[in-house]
Amino acid sequence: MSQDTVSIKNNTSGEEAEFPLLKGSLGTPTVDIGTLNKNLGIFTYDQGFVSTASCKSDITFIDGNKGILLYRGYPIEQLAKHSSFLEVSYLLMNGELPNKDELFSFTDEINHHTMLHEALSGFFGGFHYDAHPMAMMVGVVGSLSAFYHGELNMEDPEHRRISAMRMLAKMPTIAAACYRHSVGWPNVYPRLDLGYCENFLNMMFSLPSQKYIEKDNYIDPITVKALNLLFILHADHEQNASTSTVRLASSTGANPYACIAAGISALWGPAHGGANEAVLSMLAQIGTVDKIPEYIAKAKDKNDPFRLMGFGHRVYKNFDPRATIIRETCYEVLERFPTDDPLFELALALEEYALKDEYFIEKKLYPNVDFYSGIIYRALKIPENMFTVMFVIARTAGWVSHWLEMMSDPTQRIGRPRQLYTGYANRDYVPTDARK
Ligand code: ACO
Repeated sequence: MSQDTVSIKNNTSGEEAEFPLLKGSLGTPTVDIGTLNKNLGIFTYDQGFVSTASCKSDITFIDGNKGILLYRGYPIEQLAKHSSFLEVSYLLMNGELPNKDELFSFTDEINHHTMLHEALSGFFGGFHYDAHPMAMMVGVVGSLSAFYHGELNMEDPEHRRISAMRMLAKMPTIAAACYRHSVGWPNVYPRLDLGYCENFLNMMFSLPSQKYIEKDNYIDPITVKALNLLFILHADHEQNASTSTVRLASSTGANPYACIAAGISALWGPAHGGANEAVLSMLAQIGTVDKIPEYIAKAKDKNDPFRLMGFGHRVYKNFDPRATIIRETCYEVLERFPTDDPLFELALALEEYALKDEYFIEKKLYPNVDFYSGIIYRALKIPENMFTVMFVIARTAGWVSHWLEMMSDPTQRIGRPRQLYTGYANRDYVPTDARK
């Protein structure tokens, strides 16, 4: 069978070469330009990786125009409706949904890895009380590499699997400890008898004088449902900036805990996972409903750096399917926890206003998942500076799945992009006292 190809011609030199056109199981065909430099002596330039695939992957598929998101082939809508976050994590990591026994042992193993080494807990004392929790996350997760390095054999799939399990299990414990350090509360140990979300809520909010879980392990079901849903929706999103960072760092063979810390750093930015926190800062900046038209005008003004946070997406150009799912839960949570917080009214009014605005319609700028996630977290009393940390907990499932996938790929190579050099051509050194 003949292979589909794409011809690339250098119109200056007249040289031309053919390149294989690869077709995945779904999605846009992809030209393999690995031999472009060898054949034509040129590189490609694609700032922001708008048209460039950096790897092959079986994990997640997105069709941005149709608003489709599949984890291992399963539509996000079905997983959001029927699954738990740990079930989805198992799916992402292993490729198949677990049966009852597999889910039981996976959950049990996660529970048994939730504890932090006491020496690691001591790291928190080194941070100033007002350190941003994301800064602490980068530091503490990175320092896990100091605890798990010597005995780690990255060639051994079982070593890799345990590393991935440890990261998924310890992330809520570290996240809660970051919060408690910032408010000066003693840490709460994880409990083996609680579910993943329940355990996190207990570690976040329990006080010696006021236990979060009073009796019969009761925790408000709407809170747990909302958290579970947000974790599922944020669990993976194929080659986004933080996952690509994890892959690039890992391609050197670096310690996996250090690579995940690199992913956490990338997630922190307001154009990525920091958007949920930025949404709330933006709402505070807008202040009142009557100011919405003024800020919408600022967002449309090319000379004004203000952007509507929580709107727009690199891949989704019609709607973000995660936003459609979470919007419903957002209203459910606001109904469950009625409040006179003016920011909620402002958020809903802003959503309505922007959705009717010609600029946003024409540029296909819709609320993304983080517009609603910030609002939900605020209603659940999660502090604003913890919003991106919540995203870290969820995205760890995706990061470790991509790490496992690439580490088991025998064709994997170090990631080393090229550049278009625009600096000085060769010039001679001038001694210090001869310089003007
Ligand atoms: N407010 C106002 N205008 C916007 C916005 C916005 N939020 N987003 C995009 N635009 C405009 C741009 O100015 C640009 O206009 P132009 O064509 O006239 O130049 C056009 O829409 C396309 O935008 P780009 O910046 O080229 O789109 P890109 O794909 O590079 O960026 C991004 C996507 C970063 C998400 C952008 O929409 C943005 O900054 N949004 C706000 C931050 C945010 O919510 N990030 C969360 C993303 S979701 C996640 O990480 C889970």
